[in-house]
Amino acid sequence: MHGFNSDTEALGEAILKYAEDRMRLHPVPLDSPRTLEELRAAAGNTITADGMGGLTALRLFADELALACLSSDHPRYLSFIPCAPTEAAVMFELIVGASGIYAGSWLEGSGAVYAENVALRWIADLAGLPASAGGVFVPGGTIGNLSALVTARWAARARHTASGSSTTRPTRVAAHRGSHSSIASACDVMDAELVGVPGDERQRLTGDSLRTVLEAQGPETFFAVVATAGTTNFGIVDDLESVARVCREYGIWLHVDGAYGGAGLAAPTVRHLFNGIEDADSFIVDPHKWLFAPYDCCALLYREPALARGAHTQKASYLDVLNDAEWNPSEYSIGLTRRARGLPLWFSLATHGTKAYTAAVERTLEVTRYAEAEIARRPYLEALREADLSVVVFRRHGWDPQDYQAWSTEMMREELAFVVPTSHEGETVARFAIVNPTTTEDDIASILDTMA
Ligand SMILES: Cc1ncc(COP(=O)(O)O)c(C=O)c1O
Repeated sequence: MHGFNSDTEALGEAILKYAEDRMRLHPVPLDSPRTLEELRAAAGNTITADGMGGLTALRLFADELALACLSSDHPRYLSFIPCAPTEAAVMFELIVGASGIYAGSWLEGSGAVYAENVALRWIADLAGLPASAGGVFVPGGTIGNLSALVTARWAARARHTASGSSTTRPTRVAAHRGSHSSIASACDVMDAELVGVPGDERQRLTGDSLRTVLEAQGPETFFAVVATAGTTNFGIVDDLESVARVCREYGIWLHVDGAYGGAGLAAPTVRHLFNGIEDADSFIVDPHKWLFAPYDCCALLYREPALARGAHTQKASYLDVLNDAEWNPSEYSIGLTRRARGLPLWFSLATHGTKAYTAAVERTLEVTRYAEAEIARRPYLEALREADLSVVVFRRHGWDPQDYQAWSTEMMREELAFVVPTSHEGETVARFAIVNPTTTEDDIASILDTMA
């Protein structure tokens, strides 16, 4: 099973050829989901006592299983948040897999950790975080948010203990109700209470509404405020400046969830929306969303990494040897073993340079503005809100939820596009999330045409 022989060589060539061919396709096939019965019928029993051989397994994957996986890098995959990695990042993913790197500790993975930290530094600089800031790449925004909130609670508890206060320890988190579902789920995991803060007329969390809620409930009962820099459904950026001011005033941890929108930091046309982010205590952005890295990759940054070490460092005799190292990534988040998931981003940044990233994010914003203009121009469509970033939500006059669903299903059936409906205040609506620089104006127009 182990060892490189002639079979391995043939398999290696076939795998590299498959990967190369997949990357050359433009557009890639969108593909479509299949039922369990269809897959069982097509794939049969794949794991047997003697094995089917690598080339047969690869063929089975290529001919059946891969076709039942949507291509999230397809230019007309516009649902949820797509993933459009650069070829350089995708290719480097192969190298990460082939390199046997353990990236949880400096002792074992210093070269990889060094490079990951350079990529983290680029993001920290975009946000204006201090030189002391640092963190780790985690699998996704959900783990990033949870890890940051665990750190926030740890820091609040440490302060509470040090103060000798006789009040109960803070157990609450404040966030706008547009915050991502992972915030509620993190609070569940932590048995913390999530307190919803009403938004302003633009559906943003602001310092004023935050202050009102904190005062009503007792600011000392909160250990964190979560602001969102790009909500999932609408791409709304909270008023980070006023929220940060209120957090400073009350001494409450500010976590900024930029899982989707944080990439906008690289785009001069929208950078002003993020003012105030430099005051965050923690911040996440998923490069697998809008920074052209493959799944799974979330950058988690802390203003004071020592607090994260306090919260997350696992202690055991068998780990003592790792202590006092330059930088052990596993000390900054939930989880111990980790792959060097930040390396594909680092490699792509090193290859293309940061200006190419700015240009690519700006290109998606350009296509977003085109989509908004096209929606405004067509009498049967209406946008619900002007886009802050690259999410456009719009209604088709006269359609009920079944019409949206039928339209979406038909586009999927034709493999034209993957655009699922969403809802806002009980109304079913359509939504584009445009994070793929290969999505063109023609792609957008061809989808809108189907709604006429
Ligand atoms: C704002 C926001 N936060 C958190 C997440 C969760 O990220 P992940 O799916 O990488 O866990 C998402 C995902 O869409 C998101 O949009």
